[in-house]
Amino acid sequence: GAPVRVALLGAGTVGAAVAKAMVARAELYAQRVGAPLELVGIAVRDLGRPRDLTGILPDLLTDDPGSLVEDVDIVIEVMGGIELSQELITRALGAGADVVTANKQLIAQHGVELEATAERLGRTLVYEAAVVAAVPVLHVVSQALVGDEIRSIHGIVNGSTNYILDTVARLGVPFQEAVQQAGDLGYLEADPTEDLEGLDAAAKIVILARLAWGVDVTLEDVKREGITGLTDQDFEAARGTGQVIKLIASASRSGSSAEPRVEVAVRPTLVSADHPFALTREGMNMVIIDSESAGSLRLSGAGAGGDETASAVLGDLITLARARVAARD
Ligand code: NDP
Ligand code: HSE
Repeated sequence: GAPVRVALLGAGTVGAAVAKAMVARAELYAQRVGAPLELVGIAVRDLGRPRDLTGILPDLLTDDPGSLVEDVDIVIEVMGGIELSQELITRALGAGADVVTANKQLIAQHGVELEATAERLGRTLVYEAAVVAAVPVLHVVSQALVGDEIRSIHGIVNGSTNYILDTVARLGVPFQEAVQQAGDLGYLEADPTEDLEGLDAAAKIVILARLAWGVDVTLEDVKREGITGLTDQDFEAARGTGQVIKLIASASRSGSSAEPRVEVAVRPTLVSADHPFALTREGMNMVIIDSESAGSLRLSGAGAGGDETASAVLGDLITLARARVAARD
């Protein structure tokens, strides 16, 4: 069939991994979709920056992302930021494209209106990568468990703070040094307070709560405490009682599933040393979902990283591309 035209907004950690996979797996994806995927352009901020995008450089790069959203089937937004991304996604939907994004802050802050726009226009907006990257937790909450009734979701959903807490607890590295290490490993957001003050985790639990219960939870509803107030004495005290400190994001329902009341929180929490959360080491993430019929489900894996996040973006891309090809027939 005719190619599915795809625009990529952003070629940083995630975008570059997406572009490379689209080139390396072109044949496989054509097979899976039933038509080839054609990457028509890649938007970046700085055209002069050296990039390792062998095989797709330089003809696809542009520093004008707006030029890419009008005449394509699917737009992938992996630029980050709020205003410009929101504007571009809205324009893309208006021009008839479906959209994939990994932008958790955008979805947490403006997801409700963006989804309403998509629905009004008969388009689809998906964002599996926005929450715990490679781990398909949105799929589980919004599709696999749609016949069940979720009671609660608890998770380690931020890799950099988990790395910091684990490094302090297990290796006795001083807190500030562990923060530095997490930054050196590329785990921290451009603005590290997003991680350290629990804002990144808050965005993720807000998105999960919305999908689990269809409620309009916002970032302001999250009772939030980050890890910057923790002291060496806190870690010492935890160790003395056989526990470890983890930054746990939680969403719990009270009331019925039909009329749920939902509490969302992010806070440092003591967990016993043999709990699955305590065994979630370094930059790994884990989400535990408790539901009426399925009981307790645990999902764990990489919640960050270029290839890992790209895995979820590419899954969304192929799913959207297949639907577009099916709709042609
Ligand atoms: P990066 O900062 O590595 O990449 C951002 C890319 O977008 C860069 O290529 C940058 O261009 C481009 N860009 C930024 N602003 C503009 C602009 N105004 N016009 C054109 N291009 C622009 O970010 P990441 O790849 O790490 O993250 C992307 C998104 O994915 C974010 O929303 C993030 O929260 C989300 N995410 C990231 C994860 C990760 O592990 N990294 C995990 C899960 C989600 P240039 O290259 O020229 O600077
Ligand atoms: N800064 C985030 C984290 C990246 O540490 O988990 C993935 O969302």
